[in-house]
Amino acid sequence: MDEVIVVEKVSKVYASERGPVHAIDRFSMKVKEGDFVAIVGPSGCGKTTLLWGLTGLHPFNGGKAYILGEEVDKPRKDVGIIFQQANLLPWRNILQNVLFPIEIMKENIADYEERVKDLLDSVELTGFENHYPRELSGGMQQRVSIVRALSYDPKVLLMDEPFGALDAYTRDEMDTLLLGIWKKTKKTIAFVTHRIEEAVYLANKVYVMTPRPGTNSAVFDIDLPRPRPEGITMEQKYFEIVAEIKKRIVKDVEKQKEEGVYQSQAYSTVT
Ligand SMILES: Nc1ncnc2c1ncn2[C@@H]1O[C@H](COP(=O)(O)OP(=O)(O)O)[C@@H](O)[C@H]1O
Ligand SMILES: [Mg+2]
Repeated sequence: MDEVIVVEKVSKVYASERGPVHAIDRFSMKVKEGDFVAIVGPSGCGKTTLLWGLTGLHPFNGGKAYILGEEVDKPRKDVGIIFQQANLLPWRNILQNVLFPIEIMKENIADYEERVKDLLDSVELTGFENHYPRELSGGMQQRVSIVRALSYDPKVLLMDEPFGALDAYTRDEMDTLLLGIWKKTKKTIAFVTHRIEEAVYLANKVYVMTPRPGTNSAVFDIDLPRPRPEGITMEQKYFEIVAEIKKRIVKDVEKQKEEGVYQSQAYSTVT
C-alpha cells in the first residue's frame, strides 16, 4: 500500500460554553509508506485535534480519514501514539510500562520480550528496566514512551509535539534519536510540531496549516540529504527552507488579520 494515511477534507467543531469552536476546516493530507511528514502551524490551529482524529479516539465531524486503506473510526493496533507528556504509570516500573499495551491487548508477553529488550537498548535504556518513572529524567521518560509505542510494532506513528516539554539540548538529541529509529524501523510517521526548525530537520514533507480554523496553507517537500549530515542545521540551505515556511505562516496570519477573521492565539504558546 503506497498511501498509508489519507485525510480528506476533515473538519472539527467543538462545542464550548462560548459557542462552537471551529478547530479544523476541510484539511487534507496524504502520507505515503515510509514517509516522515510534519504538520506545522500556529498554536491553536488544530494540530492536536487533527492527530486525535487520526487516533480514532476523538472523531472528526466532517470529511474522512483512512489509515492503511480503512476508514478511521476506532483506535487501531497498527498505530502507535506519542504525545507531549510521556504519561507513564507511576506505580509500574519501566519494563512494566513498556509492556502495558501488550497486556491490554491480551497478547502473550513472552512473544514481545526480545523485541522490547532491543528497543530499550536502541534508546539507551538498558539497565533501567526496574526503575520507576520518577527516577528518570524527562528525556528518558519520553524515550520510554517511544519504546511503549513501538513495542507492538505498529506500522504508523502519530506524534504530537513529543519533545515539546524537554529542554532544547535534550530535544535535539531526541530528534536525532528519532531519525535513527525511523531509519531502522521504516515506520510511517505523522509528526505535529509548532517548531519549524524541528519539522525541517526531521521530515521529508511539511504540511502547513493556517491559523484556526486549520485549513491547508502549503506543502513543502524538504530537499535535504538523507540521512541528515551532522551540522545540517547550521547550513544555509536548511535556514532558507525554515525561513520560507516561517514566512508562509506569518503571511497566513497577516491575511486573516486583514480579513478581520484572525482569532488571537499567541504564536509563542504551545497547546
Ligand atoms: N475540547 C475542546 N473544547 C473546545 N475547544 C477546544 C477543545 N480542544 C481544543 N479546542 C480548541 O480548538 C482549537 C484547536 O486546538 P488544538 O487542536 O489543540 O490546536 P494546536 O494543537 O494546533 O495548538 C483551539 O482554539 C482550542 O482552544
Ligand atoms: Mg497541540
